[in-house]
This record gives sequence, C-alpha cells and structure tokens, in this order.
Amino acid sequence: MKPSGRITDNFGEGFNYKIPEKGWFKLKGFIPEETIDEIRASNDIVNVVSDYVRIRKQGNNYVGLCPFHNEKTPSFMVSGDKQIFRCFGCGEGGNVISFIMKLEKLSFPEAVRFLANRAGITIPEEDDPVKSAKLKELKEAHEINELVKDFYRYILANHQIAGEARSYLKKRGLTEKTIDKFQIGFAPPSWDGLLRFLDKKGYAPEKLEKLGLVLHTSKGKPGFYDRFRNRVIFPIWDIRGKIVGFGGRVLDDGVPKYLNSPETIVFNKSHLLYGINKAAESIRRNDQAIIVEGYLDVITCHQAGIFNVVASLGTAFTREQGKLLLRYSQEVIMAYDADVAGVHATMRGWQLLDDLGCRVRVVSIPDGKDPDEFIRTHGADKFLDVVRQNAQSLSEFNTDRALEKYDMTTLEGKFKIASEVIPSIINISNEIEKNEAVMKLAKRLHLSPEAVRAEVGKKLRTSRNSWLNRDKITDARNNNDNRVSGQIVSGDEDARSKAEESLFVLMLSDKNIFLKVKEEIGIHFSLRLEYLRIINLLNEIVENELDYQPAVLFDRLQNEPAAEILKRLLLIEMPQDNRTQLIVDCIRTVKEDEIRKKREELLEKMEEADKSRDQELRKQLLLEYSKLI
Ligand code: UTP
Ligand code: MN
Repeated sequence: MKPSGRITDNFGEGFNYKIPEKGWFKLKGFIPEETIDEIRASNDIVNVVSDYVRIRKQGNNYVGLCPFHNEKTPSFMVSGDKQIFRCFGCGEGGNVISFIMKLEKLSFPEAVRFLANRAGITIPEEDDPVKSAKLKELKEAHEINELVKDFYRYILANHQIAGEARSYLKKRGLTEKTIDKFQIGFAPPSWDGLLRFLDKKGYAPEKLEKLGLVLHTSKGKPGFYDRFRNRVIFPIWDIRGKIVGFGGRVLDDGVPKYLNSPETIVFNKSHLLYGINKAAESIRRNDQAIIVEGYLDVITCHQAGIFNVVASLGTAFTREQGKLLLRYSQEVIMAYDADVAGVHATMRGWQLLDDLGCRVRVVSIPDGKDPDEFIRTHGADKFLDVVRQNAQSLSEFNTDRALEKYDMTTLEGKFKIASEVIPSIINISNEIEKNEAVMKLAKRLHLSPEAVRAEVGKKLRTSRNSWLNRDKITDARNNNDNRVSGQIVSGDEDARSKAEESLFVLMLSDKNIFLKVKEEIGIHFSLRLEYLRIINLLNEIVENELDYQPAVLFDRLQNEPAAEILKRLLLIEMPQDNRTQLIVDCIRTVKEDEIRKKREELLEKMEEADKSRDQELRKQLLLEYSKLI
C-alpha cells in the first residue's frame, strides 16, 4: 500500500484518495471526477483482475495467487461486492484503479485512461471548452434532478395532498422501507408546484424544460407548467446511481398510465435499465439477471428479497441495454408480461441478447400475471420456483405459443408449428443446444429428429440471407447423419421406421390396406413429415373418391421432398404372401413404440414432479404409467 499511498486501509467504507492537495486539484482538472466514477463503475474489478490472475469463487469473494508477491497458497482476495482487492500475504490492496496502477506500473491518470480505454469510454479533455461546458451542464442536470426527487419525496411523506398516493402505495403492498429505498415521491396536482420550488432555488424554467420537468404553455403564451402532476413518482437512476429521469404513475386508471421523462442530455432511455444500480452486485453474485417490464415489478422483487432484477421500462430491448447487462452476467432470464405485447417484446429482446452472446431463457408467468402481481399473490419463493422450473429457451417458448395456435393432430398444424419454431432453432449458435432444440421439437410434434432436421436444413437453404448462413448450412449438412447430441438412434427407432416404411409401401399398393391402417392407428402415426404428407394425400384421394393411383400423388407433390420419398417407396418390392400378418406386425411395432415413448415421457414428468416435490402429480403419473405396462 505504501508505494501508491493513495488508498486508506478502510475497506469497509469505500475509498478515499489520499492525494496531496495539489495533486488532487491537478487530478480534478485533468479527468473529471464524474468520468472517473464512470470508468471505475464500468470496469468490474472481478473482470479486470481475471485478465491477469486466475481467480476462483470462494463464498462471496474470489481468491487466487497474489500477482504482487510470490506465493504458493492463495492469499489474494477480490470482492465483487466491495469492488476491492487485498492480499493477506503482502498487504497490498485497493480498488480497480490501484490494481492497474500497480500491475501495469502506471500513474493514477494513466491507469484511469487505461481503464477508460478498456471500457470504451472517451475522456473529455480539459482544454476543450465545448466539452467542459457540457460537463458542467451534466453536473447541473444531476443536481436539479436530485432536488426534484427531494421535492416529490417531501410531498409524499408530509403533505396532506399526498394522502391518496400514500394509501395507493400501501394498497400495492409497498413498505416504508421500500418507498425509501426507491426514493418514491408524489407530484402534487398543481400546475406549478415544482416550478415554484425550483424557482426559489434559482433555476430558470428554460433549464427545467430542457430536463423535461416542465413544459411550455402552448399557443405562444409565455410561461411554463409542471410535466408531472398528481402522479406517484419513480426516480430513474443510471448505473452510477445518478438520477437521470422520472416516471410518474396515475393513481387511478387514467391514461397514460405512466408518464416518463422525455429524452434529455442525461436521460437516454435506450441505454438505461431501471434498477441496474441496485441490482448490479446481485446480478454478478447470482451470475444471472432477471429482466422484467415495469417499475413495480423491479420494486416488488427487491422488496421480496430478489435483487438481480432490472426493468427495460416498456420499451423494446436495445443492444445498449444488453451490453450493460453483459458487464455483470451472461445469463439472462426474461420475465415479461404474458400479454401479447410482452410476448412480442420477449421475442425481439431474446434475439438481440442472443446475438450479444447472452444465454437467454424465458419465463412465462402463470395466470397471465406480471412478476409484481405473481409475487404479491404467491410469494418470492414461488416466483423463484417458476424461474427455476419454467425457464425455457426461445424455441421451447415458441413451440408453446405455436401449440396454442395450431392443431398438432393435423399434418397442416404440425407444419405450421414447425415453421414457426424452426427460425428460432436456426438462430441458435451453439451446435449442442441446437441439436437439443431439434430433439425437443421432434418430441413435441411426434416426429423423428431427422424429419425436423431436414426441415431445418430446408429453411436454411431457402432463407433469403443464406449466404450469410454459409457456416450454419455446412454445419447442418455435416450433421446430417444419424447422430444426435452424440447418441445414435436406438434400435427401437429403427424397427419403428422399418415398420412405417413397410406400411407405406403396402398402403400405396392397395386402397384396402390404407383403410385398414387408418382404422387401426389413424393417419397421424408417422414420425416422418414426408410420410405424413403422403398419407394425408392418400386420405384426400379416398375421401374424395378419386382414382387410387400413386401417379396422382406425384402431381400434388411436385418438387416437395415427399416426392423423393414417394419415388423411393414405389421402388421397394414387398413379398406377396403373408401380407396380412406383416401388416399386423407393423401396426403392432408402431403401437408398441408409441407406448414406449409415452412411458419415457411419463418417467421424465415423474422426475420433474419429484424435483418439485409434487406428490399428487407424481401419483397420477404413476397410475398412468402402470396402465401402460
Ligand atoms: P405495464 O403496463 O405492464 O405496467 O407497463 P406495470 O409496470 O405492470 O404497472 P402497474 O403494475 O400497472 O403499475 C410496463 C412498463 O412500461 C412502461 C412503464 O415503464 C411500465 O412500468 N409504460 C407503461 C410506460 O412508460 N407508459 C405507459 O403508459 C405504460
Ligand atoms: Mn403490473
């Protein structure tokens, strides 16, 4: 610690730079304090240290071998919560800036620049008058917003006019502590409450207008009036905890439900996540972020002890928001509202986060509720259970949505479901995950993985940007063997597909065989999309009493993949004798395989029921299972 002499050993209280008076001034002039704050906040110490030292998690901290002295057993400790490092061996310690100074042998401003560079932050130069004016403006904006927050909080806490607001917040289940933590306030119904308050503090209305706090009276008349009136006020912070804007909610069901600050020099909605300043530590610690839609969702989660939650504030999720999250964790859970808008927002956000390299999963909250309502009715534990158990990949999420929309007992329905889900499978960059998604969809649709994979390949080839997906196409082609996630298709599956093949050959040769099969196992039994397509056409032919001729099928199929399959089937010769027995055997094979699949499904469900300790469900499943044996 001696050499730098900048850091007190008071780790609990954060850092005081013990810089000689002169140096401090010099430093202040050199790089603005706010910029230093931002640079420090943007360089997570755990990430920075990991660039140089192998550290591993131990409790809330990370430990490793100290880079500042030779040691065999780790006494070097990094705390993500406190954003500090210290070595119990040599006594070295400090924050991320001191770490870089020491390790890269840099001066303080050099280390700050080094870290600014690492985080992609530009440092405004002191001799640039435009920039320093801008900095002054930013600082003043934060000061004004602080005052505004104080004003609204004062009204909420003390003014009789806020009685209704206080009971509203109570009705919504917010405690005093929560109201304090989120600095919630109330904007009085008057037209100039804030205006007059800030006038007394010496701030001109023009300045306030720029910050979106007051509005110009219309029709050329002079004067201003408050933007937020008769609304509960939620201050919005940036990552450093500076107030950059406000959201105001009506007390009844007036519109708009929420009024937000407009874009200002400090309020850039697309770069902000509500609650990030309070959630960042927890996101890092849990290595997971939960994104919700609204203010109240974040607040209720925090009140219930779930801290790794931020809100995208009703806007479409942006890249900047995604990058902000990525500073803390790669794992993102989207818990948007279950309404149509929420589902759309989820799909768009998912893609974007996936492109950025996040591991994204989606949670649909039961009963169409938002997290706030769900937690207030069922509690935080239940909510976390839902997150743990219901979190789905996008393709699973899409499958559920598509299954609600289409009838999967028809071939047309299966096609529609597949074509809605396959784009989200094509976009999965990880090949193992992609294979898993294929398997899952095949299972849900009762098709063979090969059939789904063939569809995926087809979509890839026809996709408009196929040249962009060259690598993916090659992958899909190379994967076109029997292997799925390293497993070779089982013998049973093989027997099933042989049986199906025989049945199709026979059905094509004889209308009566088709009728017999249909009567025994229906027309949706096949695991292959092409077979399903063919049998559907056969059915049409029979129902419309057309000529039972394979040639008719070729006309209908044109260039479809099923035409190739049909050609192959028509080349296969079947023995003439014992046909009846053969048909019976094939039908039995299909039936038995179906039962085996059902049993496997039930076993899986039972495992899940075990995990969630749902005894009732388990019993029910066991009963079903025993019936199948
Ligand atoms: P919701 O309509 O889901 O509201 O909008 P909510 O958060 O559940 O609010 P409560 O529970 O009814 O109080 C989600 C988010 O979208 C933004 C807000 O940020 C809100 O929290 N929004 C919504 C607006 O900005 N303006 C609106 O008029 C509505
Ligand atoms: Mn809500």
